[in-house]
Amino acid sequence: MSTPLKDAVRDLPLPAIGEPVIEVRNLTKRYGRNLVLQHLDFDVRRGEIVTLVGGSGSGKTTLVRNILGLEKPTSGAIRLFGEDLTQIAPADIRLIRTRTGMLFQHGALFSSLSVFDNVAQPVRELGKVPADLLRDIVMLKLEMVGLPCKHASKMPAALSGGMIKRVGLARAIVLEPEMLFLDEPTAGLDPRSSDEVVDLISTLHRALGLTVVLVTHDLDAMVALSTRVAVLAERRVLVAAPVEEVAGVNHPFIREYFLGTRGRRALQALPPERRAKLPGAALAPAFGTTGGSAR
Ligand SMILES: Nc1ncnc2c1ncn2[C@@H]1O[C@H](COP(=O)(O)OP(=O)(O)OP(=O)(O)O)[C@@H](O)[C@H]1O
Ligand SMILES: [Mg+2]
Repeated sequence: MSTPLKDAVRDLPLPAIGEPVIEVRNLTKRYGRNLVLQHLDFDVRRGEIVTLVGGSGSGKTTLVRNILGLEKPTSGAIRLFGEDLTQIAPADIRLIRTRTGMLFQHGALFSSLSVFDNVAQPVRELGKVPADLLRDIVMLKLEMVGLPCKHASKMPAALSGGMIKRVGLARAIVLEPEMLFLDEPTAGLDPRSSDEVVDLISTLHRALGLTVVLVTHDLDAMVALSTRVAVLAERRVLVAAPVEEVAGVNHPFIREYFLGTRGRRALQALPPERRAKLPGAALAPAFGTTGGSAR
C-alpha cells in the first residue's frame, strides 16, 4: 500500500548513523532465582534499526524494559541518550522516556478506548492540551501510519490485526519520539499485512530520522529492516552486526536460526552486494522456493 508519506520519503537518504543513544554495560537481571540476563553489553547508535533476535524466553522483552527504565537492573549500567538510568530520579527517567515510543508485544491497545483516545493517551498523560490541537496531533499521526481519519472513532474490536498495529504505531510516535521500540510488530499478521507494517516502519524511520529497536521472530522483517542484528542467547548479546556477518558466526543457535531453511530463504531477500558476504552455507538452496520471494 502506498501512502503520501511513503511517496514523500522514497528518495530521502537513510538517517545518518550518529552517536550512541543506548549503552548497556555488564547488565545482569534476575527474577528471584531465574537469572535472565548476565554480563550483557549492548549498544545502539542514533539512526540505526537494530533487530533483537533470540529464542522465546531468552530475555528480549526484559532487555527492552530495562533500557526504558520500566524495570531496574539487578546490576550493571544503562545509558539512554547519554543519561545513566541507574543514577537518576524516577521523574527524570519518565521525562527521558517521553523521547521514546513503544509498541508493546501484548495488549497493544486499550480495548475500551476508541482509536482516537488510544492514540491521544500519551499526550493526555503529559497534561492538558486544547481539544483542537489534540485533534490535529492525533489525526496527523493516523495519517502518517496510513489510517484514514474515518477510523478514529472505531473501537479496537472492530479493527483488523494490521490496523491494530498501525494504531499502536500511531500511538508510539504521537509524542514525536527520537527512538522507537517495537516488540513483535508483525506477530500474528498475514504476509501481506506484515509487509505493509515493515514498509511503514521503514517509512517512519526515514521520515522522522528515528532510531529503532525491533524485537522480532519474523525473519523477513529482520532482513528487510535491520542495519544490525543483535543475537540474544546464553543471557547475553552474542553478536551485534549486519545480518550477513551474523549469519557466519559459528554458534549452534545462530547456525540453526540463520542457516536453517527459513533463515536461508529470508536471507535471499538481501541485495546482491550483501548476499555476496554471506557464508557458503547460507547460499544453499532453501527448500520450497524458486529463489526470488522471501515468503
Ligand atoms: N515480570 C517478570 N517476573 C518474573 N519473571 C519474568 C518477568 N518478566 C519476564 N520474566 C521471565 O524472564 C524470562 C525472559 O522473558 P522475556 O519475556 O524477556 O523473554 P522474550 O525473549 O521476550 O520471549 P518471547 O520471545 O516469548 O517474547 C522468562 O523466563 C520469563 O518468565
Ligand atoms: Mg518478548
